[in-house]
Amino acid sequence: MLVDLRSDTVTQPSAAMLRAMSDASLRDNARDGDPTVASLEEKAAGLTGKDAGLFVPSGTMGNIATILTRTRSGDRIVVESRAHIYRSEHGGYAELARVEPIPIEGESGAPPAAEVKRSLDAECGGSIRLVCLETTHNAYGGVVASLAEMEHIYREASSGGVSVHLDGARVFNASVHLGCPVAAITKHADSVVFSLSKGLGAPVGSLLCGSREFISAARQRVKMLGGAMRQIGPLAAAGLIALEDPFEFLENDHRTARRLAECMAALDPLAVEPASVVTNIVNIDLADRVDAGAFEARLRERGVLIGRRSNGLFRLVTHRDIGEAGIDHAIRSLEAVWAETGNSRSASLRGVH
Ligand SMILES: Cc1ncc(COP(=O)(O)O)c(C=O)c1O
Repeated sequence: MLVDLRSDTVTQPSAAMLRAMSDASLRDNARDGDPTVASLEEKAAGLTGKDAGLFVPSGTMGNIATILTRTRSGDRIVVESRAHIYRSEHGGYAELARVEPIPIEGESGAPPAAEVKRSLDAECGGSIRLVCLETTHNAYGGVVASLAEMEHIYREASSGGVSVHLDGARVFNASVHLGCPVAAITKHADSVVFSLSKGLGAPVGSLLCGSREFISAARQRVKMLGGAMRQIGPLAAAGLIALEDPFEFLENDHRTARRLAECMAALDPLAVEPASVVTNIVNIDLADRVDAGAFEARLRERGVLIGRRSNGLFRLVTHRDIGEAGIDHAIRSLEAVWAETGNSRSASLRGVH
């Protein structure tokens, strides 16, 4: 059995998606537009409560197109200090947009509103043009930003004429966790990008949504970046299936993630706090207590693939292609590999001698 917990991007398209893909329109979207792409963009705009949507190849392109649209060279942007935009997109904000980041740490993933306000107030010259939020927050293990905090940040930024962008690659997971529609989250941002190809299970693509004027300007930036895609009706058709309610199936991924966290915490209480796992990402910290390479390799031998963030810090991501039997197998494998590779330091930390 193969249980791939490296990412939710590995999900395979469902049978319904594959059927829809084979029947889809095949117009040159970059030249003439394509009706399936138009339907997808309209659907995404509706779900996020925005005027318009834009189908882009990736979340990274949606994020950089937003920064390019909202800023000019030399401007500054506020980001959370472990945000994907800041840490994991190869510095596109600096390389392509030539903006300077103001990183602010935020435990829930969003920078604290008071800190954002302090930064905005300190910028008398008004060079901050954009505040970027992220929910769920990848690096913090899928945590969900509080709506109250997002609202506060949005209010502060808007009152200073600064736009807010939400990197909502997994915003559907956030909405299921919060028990609210996606639009109740995205109303606290001027624009949002979300992914079709993660927990929602489509093969490719993200949707950037915002005002009509913003999307039309962002479309030009996406074109400049080489992201104007041609016969993408089949990809849009899969995306439309991915956006069919009910999204509550994601709850299952959250539940299985919690099971993995509980298993790891039982083996090593320092590895993870299960209560902090609220969506589908589990960060486990085994630094100094395991040979990271051996831990990963021995799990792989048992057919369990996990992601490695840095030495001793791993990421496990649950998704729709892992059933209950897969999680059971992953748990048994974690227990077995921990028994083989976990070192005595963690036993003594637990008071076990
Ligand atoms: C929070 C977040 N934002 C953006 C991205 C980038 O998405 P993509 O891989 O589609 O470029 C990811 C990818 O993992 C992500 O986790």
